[in-house]
Amino acid sequence: MRPVPPVSTRDTGLYIHFPYCEKKCPYCDFNSHVVPHDDAAYADAILRELDARAPAHRLGVGFRTLYFGGGTPSLWDPKEVARVIRTVREGHGLHESAEITLEANPGTVHTRLFEAFVEAGVNRFSIGAQSFVPDELVQLGRIHGAAAGREAVRAARASGARVSLDLIYAQPGQRWSDVERSVETALELEPDHVSAYTLTVEPDTVLGRQHAEGRFIPMEDDEQAELIERVSARLLAAGHRRYEVSSYAREGIEAVHNTLYWVGGGYLGLGAGAHSYLPAPGLAGSRRRGNLKSPALYLDSTRAKHTPAFEEDLSLEIALQDRLMMGVRTIFGLDLRALDEEAGLGGELVSGLGAEVADLEHQGLLLHQDGWIAPTVRGFYFVDLLARRLAAPLREMRELDRPRSPVLE
Ligand SMILES: C[S@@+](CC[C@H](N)C(=O)[O-])C[C@H]1O[C@@H](n2cnc3c(N)ncnc32)[C@H](O)[C@@H]1O
Ligand code: SF4
Repeated sequence: MRPVPPVSTRDTGLYIHFPYCEKKCPYCDFNSHVVPHDDAAYADAILRELDARAPAHRLGVGFRTLYFGGGTPSLWDPKEVARVIRTVREGHGLHESAEITLEANPGTVHTRLFEAFVEAGVNRFSIGAQSFVPDELVQLGRIHGAAAGREAVRAARASGARVSLDLIYAQPGQRWSDVERSVETALELEPDHVSAYTLTVEPDTVLGRQHAEGRFIPMEDDEQAELIERVSARLLAAGHRRYEVSSYAREGIEAVHNTLYWVGGGYLGLGAGAHSYLPAPGLAGSRRRGNLKSPALYLDSTRAKHTPAFEEDLSLEIALQDRLMMGVRTIFGLDLRALDEEAGLGGELVSGLGAEVADLEHQGLLLHQDGWIAPTVRGFYFVDLLARRLAAPLREMRELDRPRSPVLE
């Protein structure tokens, strides 16, 4: 049976970026800055941008999800978070069962703070525990130890909110017995959701520079693959389902906001460096936007014309590429017939991708059922390849570069 995602392309999400951190982690290329900040002024800027941008989005029953990401939004004064949530709800609408997530770094939280965020309206915490092995946390340059990670998850659970826990593994030299310690501790804490990432070396980070100088040697791919398989098996045995490359949850409590991105839903991103996606009917002309990354420049922009760092209207080909790329990341997959219809392609997408789909299915990387496709367990290791192979035939489709206006047909 096809797994059913908790959201659809009819839903819209709201992402709010809080760009400040206490210390920059050496592996991190998120838009995070260690500079003094003013919590109230940042909330004011977010609310100015909300008023300017929300009307362009089709909201209907209101935003289906609200996600405070960072940076470290757990550093934001809960009073300001409450003000932002209240204004979104009253001014623009929040779905009655909206998922409202806040990312928390264990080095910045305590029981009372979790309670205050819940009082503000947050109903899900995503906790950056990363590891429960003290030496590994030092290697990762974290501001907290293993006990703080455990305490944060316990306190978040006690607040009554749902809890997701982030782990980073596949550090150089790590063996399964090391990773197992963190996975077992994570499971003892009974999170609703686990995001287990392999350590990625991003070029513009301390780790990236050490790598370029030969001072950091990442783990070999086959060693990583073996660890991924073991982590996955252990989490599955504990009742979690691997529903996306790095995401595990009990069935029915997947991350709604993240899934909205993967199914191709629209979202408004507010704050420094935040990205937005505004789908257009028929997909051609869907709009993508990225805000200025510097917090100071972003704050200034909200006092004038909200000038973004970039804004582009996508061609049908690029919009389809994006949907294919996202669709092959989750077990919810993608209904090619529905996508064909949405894009008004009269069957050309389904027939154009037919040969690739059949071949990838034959290789055991893709499931295929009446036009619906999804990655197999093996396919999860090759999502980039799947996306490239499925996007390749788009270039050959004449229908994609023909103007859509009936006058010109
Ligand atoms: C914005 S952070 C979460 C909140 C908070 N800033 C923190 O670090 O505790 C998002 C998550 O992405 C993951 N992450 C970030 N950079 C990564 C990298 N280079 N490799 C693997 N995972 C990474 C971490 O698990 C991190 O918790
Ligand atoms: S605390 Fe999170 S966002 Fe901040 S630098 Fe570390 S990983 Fe990046």
